Amino acid sequence: MKFHYPELLHGGDYNPEQWMEQKETIWKQDMQYAREAGINTLSIGIFSWAYLEPEDGVYDFSWMDEVMDNLAANGIKAVLATPSGARPAWLAKKYPSVLRMTAQRLPNVFGGRHNACYSSPDYERKVTEINTRLAERYKDHPALMMWHVSNEYNNECHCPRCQERFRDWCKARYGTIENLNRCWWNSFWSHKYTTFDEIISPSPLGEEENVAHLLAWKRFCTDNLVRFFKTEIAPLRRITPNVPVTANLMGTFPGLDYFALGKEMDISSWDNYPAWTGDERDLAVARNSSFRHDLMRGVCDQKPYLMMESSPSSVNWNTINPLRKPGTVLYQGLQAIAHGSDSVQYFQFRAGRGGSEQYHGAVIDRTGTNRTRTFREVAEVGAVLKQLKAVAGSETRNQIALLYDWNVRWSVEGAWMLHRHHEQYEETVRSFHIGLSSLGYGVDMVDETCDISRYKVLVAPMAYMMREGFGQKLRAFVAGGGTLITTYVTGYVNQELLTYMDADPSPMNELTGMHVDECDALDDRTFGHFVWNGKKYRVKEIAELATPTTAQTLAVYADRFYATQPCFTVNEYGKGRCYYIAARTDADFLYDALGWMLKEAGLEPILSRLPEGTCATERYQEDGTRFLFVQNGTHERKIVPLPKTMKDAVTGKKVYEQLEMGELSVAVLTDE
Ligand code: GLA
Ligand code: ZN
Repeated sequence: MKFHYPELLHGGDYNPEQWMEQKETIWKQDMQYAREAGINTLSIGIFSWAYLEPEDGVYDFSWMDEVMDNLAANGIKAVLATPSGARPAWLAKKYPSVLRMTAQRLPNVFGGRHNACYSSPDYERKVTEINTRLAERYKDHPALMMWHVSNEYNNECHCPRCQERFRDWCKARYGTIENLNRCWWNSFWSHKYTTFDEIISPSPLGEEENVAHLLAWKRFCTDNLVRFFKTEIAPLRRITPNVPVTANLMGTFPGLDYFALGKEMDISSWDNYPAWTGDERDLAVARNSSFRHDLMRGVCDQKPYLMMESSPSSVNWNTINPLRKPGTVLYQGLQAIAHGSDSVQYFQFRAGRGGSEQYHGAVIDRTGTNRTRTFREVAEVGAVLKQLKAVAGSETRNQIALLYDWNVRWSVEGAWMLHRHHEQYEETVRSFHIGLSSLGYGVDMVDETCDISRYKVLVAPMAYMMREGFGQKLRAFVAGGGTLITTYVTGYVNQELLTYMDADPSPMNELTGMHVDECDALDDRTFGHFVWNGKKYRVKEIAELATPTTAQTLAVYADRFYATQPCFTVNEYGKGRCYYIAARTDADFLYDALGWMLKEAGLEPILSRLPEGTCATERYQEDGTRFLFVQNGTHERKIVPLPKTMKDAVTGKKVYEQLEMGELSVAVLTDE
């Protein structure tokens, strides 16, 4: 189901149960302020369980009815949450199985939020009951727009039920204990299991070093959560089949494979909390946000998504929580839109007077008024989003895919390898994202399970582990004319993390036209270098030693004992080609080499000659209408050359081939 709303959404988490005792005044004022701030959506019920079900089986929807009616009366759409992100104290007391157990096998006690066991039958039942009632109650309510399922699903539970499920999962995946022993290489350290009953989850008190075991556990945790998610949404799907379902994600959160979860959602959404500093460090922050936006769009097949949360001012959970400079909130919001979000939403709409998040930024902050800078800035975002209404529902049409795979990440990070547990998988993928963006290209993020046939170029850095069918997919992609750009630490192991050998070679060998013989780890005082295209570049951290078979060498190492061995190669394969970057380098090489490889692949950037610190993205409506977004992530003014005169979509003014941009700003342009 594709979500479609004819406007960009503007809103945020609304927790009116905090003000139940003053609803006559506060709730009324909320609606007035929401209108003033150009808010057209609010997310409600996220943490409302104790108010919706004050006692086991005793429900009270009266206050929620009132809130929903208020929203409808004010033209505001509800992103209605299921309350499973936190639970009432009575529930934890009566059904202790709903609480998690730590990896040390200690049962948690009531408190905090999340903290749930996704294998607890009591939890499943109580969640199903309340979700059913919510759906029944509001299925025809005019305010209902979307389901917000739980809150930031996260982390694992090591209770006996989860252990049992893990064993069942292992049985289903490996079939026999002999096969599991083979896949996990349990012939070493006497780790051979005799029966599935002996398997337990990883723990600092026991097994933590066998990466195959760790990966199996991570995969299980995702599968178990996806199963729970499907149970959670079953009543919603049944009772409200036309209401789209999302769950708010957390960017590069390490604990779950979001591509797997994304397959079950109608629309992706995520909570974006960049740590803006107000100085030149913001460029790195902005680039990191851009990367995560693209990733979060990727998990639901590149469809428009939502920025479900962001802070309209500071947060309260960093060690130091600075205010944002004027203009940052607008920048943060438009950055989301530039990457394909159909919304700018905040946490939270009105700050509470106490409790855990008392000092977190809010649209209506602790003054309780609309007289604040934050409120004015939010209202400005609202006004700008109204001008950009035509952007709603438009999609990206990028020709480059960049691979980021949670399974690969877990495999690389868990391996005792070159820089033990510091292989920098995410940073590496991000460095390629920065290179591509700085060159003016738009990027789609994919994982090894995604369809890559629609792209011209696939960039796959550190694709260490080849999942089921991925090698074949790559072969078809390149043979069919695609360009594959890959790097060091790619194709080392199969889906079970067993290393490829000569008798069972890595599918990468055929594509890269070489085989990797050794890999060097450099410490932070050791560097190599090489010369390519007349320019000298630095090698750092990782340097692979490889022997070409059919590959052509583009550059060779200049020093250390492997001087003259190739560090940059290309291999023609079918109608396409595969480039191989054998060493980790600085950003200058990625920029130069990516620029050259993409030109060779016949790809033109969205904008060329972009000044340092700027990037460009595009969104298209089905009828071909194009929106061009230019982001300036620096605190300097920038002049961006345009190929032609365009129109500013916010002001309606013409922009004559020279776009002048202020610090931290996003320009939205349309063709004249
Ligand atoms: C997360 C949660 C919110 C709130 C914010 C604060 O994203 O989903 O409930 O705690 O963080 O930044
Ligand atoms: Zn559990």
